[in-house]
Amino acid sequence: MKSNKKVGLILLPVVLILACMIYVSGLYAYSEDIEFGGEKTRGSVAFPHELHMGSFDCLDCHHDMKDGENVLDEADLEEDNPDILCASCHNADSKIERREAFHYQCMGCHNKFRLTQEATGPTLCGECHILKK
Ligand code: HEC
Ligand code: HEC
Ligand code: HEC
Ligand code: HEC
Repeated sequence: MKSNKKVGLILLPVVLILACMIYVSGLYAYSEDIEFGGEKTRGSVAFPHELHMGSFDCLDCHHDMKDGENVLDEADLEEDNPDILCASCHNADSKIERREAFHYQCMGCHNKFRLTQEATGPTLCGECHILKK
């Protein structure tokens, strides 16, 4: 029994460290900030994804709409899943095309927070689209 306890005491920190590493790497997968450089008639747009993740639920922004309801499974929000990218649904053939989808979502929310005079994000073209020299 005694030696088992010792092994346990040695293993405990190892297990904790491993758990932390797995936890952090899981968060890290989504935490990269995104830069949209899209079609380039305007400057590229920086989107601090991690900052937004801290204040909102994933499903506030990510969705799969069926009959007006968001049926997206949060487990599908994985890096390199093409189905979660906005443009996989919002394209030239859809009611709301790509640019509108981004504009409505980003500016819609920033404007909402501006109205209530809370901390918010940019709402002017040149504050989001930064032209690089
Ligand atoms: C809250 C940030 C934000 C604001 C404010 C904003 N945009 Fe955008 N805009 C985006 C995002 C995000 C995209 C889609 C990503 C991309 O460029 O690929 C986009 C896409 C576009 C595109 C199509 C992509 C391109 O480069 O051709 C145009 C054109 C555009 N915006 C013009 C405007 C104009 C004009 C205004 C001001 C009326 C404006 N935007 C305000 C974030 C913003
Ligand atoms: C404020 C809105 C918002 C919130 C909140 C948000 N996201 Fe996102 N996320 C986006 C946008 C916009 C993109 C870019 C989509 C695109 O490029 O079409 C994105 C991209 C992603 C990607 C794709 C990365 C890649 O390039 O493959 C993943 C994964 C992701 N989000 C996961 C999450 C998870 C998990 C949460 C909750 C913890 C979350 N998001 C919260 C708006 C948001
Ligand atoms: C799996 C498909 C799918 C994906 C992925 C998707 N959408 Fe949508 N979205 C829809 C559908 C369907 C509607 C309902 C309107 C319609 O029929 O076009 C909608 C509605 C919207 C609306 C208007 C309704 C509202 O919520 O105010 C916005 C804005 C929007 N999407 C932005 C986005 C953004 C930004 C992304 C990426 C983060 C995204 N969508 C990803 C399918 C999708
Ligand atoms: C659901 C609401 C919501 C959506 C959707 C949203 N934002 Fe924001 N955004 C905020 C709020 C709130 C802040 C202020 C956060 C703070 O300062 O604590 C913010 C801040 C920002 C900032 C400033 C960050 C800084 O360091 O000061 C940028 C840039 C930004 N958003 C870009 C975007 C873009 C681009 C999109 C769309 C792809 C987007 N946001 C979508 C709510 C939103």
